[in-house]
Amino acid sequence: MDRYLVFGHPVRHSKSPFIHTLFARQTQQELEYGLAEPAIDEFAHALRTFFDQGGKGCNVTVPFKEQAFTLVDRLSPRAKRAGAVNTIKLTDDGVLLGDNTDGAGLVADLKSHGVTLADSRILLLGAGGAARGALAPLLAELPSELVIANRTYAKAQQLAAEFCDLGPVTAQTYEQLAGPFDLVINSTSASLQGELPPLAPALINTDIAIYDMMYGASDTAFISWAKQHGARQTMDGLGMLVEQAAEAFTVWRGIRPGTKQVLRELKRNLGVI
Ligand code: ATR
Repeated sequence: MDRYLVFGHPVRHSKSPFIHTLFARQTQQELEYGLAEPAIDEFAHALRTFFDQGGKGCNVTVPFKEQAFTLVDRLSPRAKRAGAVNTIKLTDDGVLLGDNTDGAGLVADLKSHGVTLADSRILLLGAGGAARGALAPLLAELPSELVIANRTYAKAQQLAAEFCDLGPVTAQTYEQLAGPFDLVINSTSASLQGELPPLAPALINTDIAIYDMMYGASDTAFISWAKQHGARQTMDGLGMLVEQAAEAFTVWRGIRPGTKQVLRELKRNLGVI
């Protein structure tokens, strides 16, 4: 049977095996999908061993995405732009192809929530790896403006400079931000520590859409905060997780699984509904 897995550290709580097993059942694909948690300095060896032993493809998650970028034979254009690889496929001619489906997953999830990106004013919070992966797919949707705000301003500036050939992207400090924005995407890891990016409450209103790439069994700190300040449409990163997985599955198997039912089952599994 064709073998796939996700590399991460820690990875025990990954929902990828659950998601891909449901995709395989739904599309009647024969495959198995497991977990691998190599020591931080043993990822390269573990990756090579997996493919030497007949593995067909893998996902890569924190903290290995940047390392995976350097280990594959070939990169997709979107992986090149993202500077990170979350999906690897062994092609029929034996080439390890590195791809990145995170940004496509974000855009697909935003669209499935009915968020209009064309001609919109988007505020992207954070300038780390998650923001970098989102920028090209977001700009491809032709927003009227995309502003990156980051605690460390220089990192926002650098990202904006790197992506300005793709669309109207600029960097601002949190203090400089002036609304209205149609959509705020939180790509910071602040929620992990229960912290908030230092965003002025005045930027939140009832018409704005709020997206947090993080997720949990209950609202993230950022989503709770945005709701308190009047946001009515809030979305967390669970849908992005399922959509990026669907995109990876499509890369591997050439068949696109449906995501709605799988997202519902994942929510039930996590106790969210
Ligand atoms: P990831 O790959 O998940 O993007 P990362 O590359 O470590 O992780 O980036 C984390 C991002 O969250 C950064 O933009 C970071 O801001 P700095 O560049 O100033 O470090 C941002 N971040 C983390 N904690 C934050 C907090 N409490 N407030 C605001 N931004 C925060």
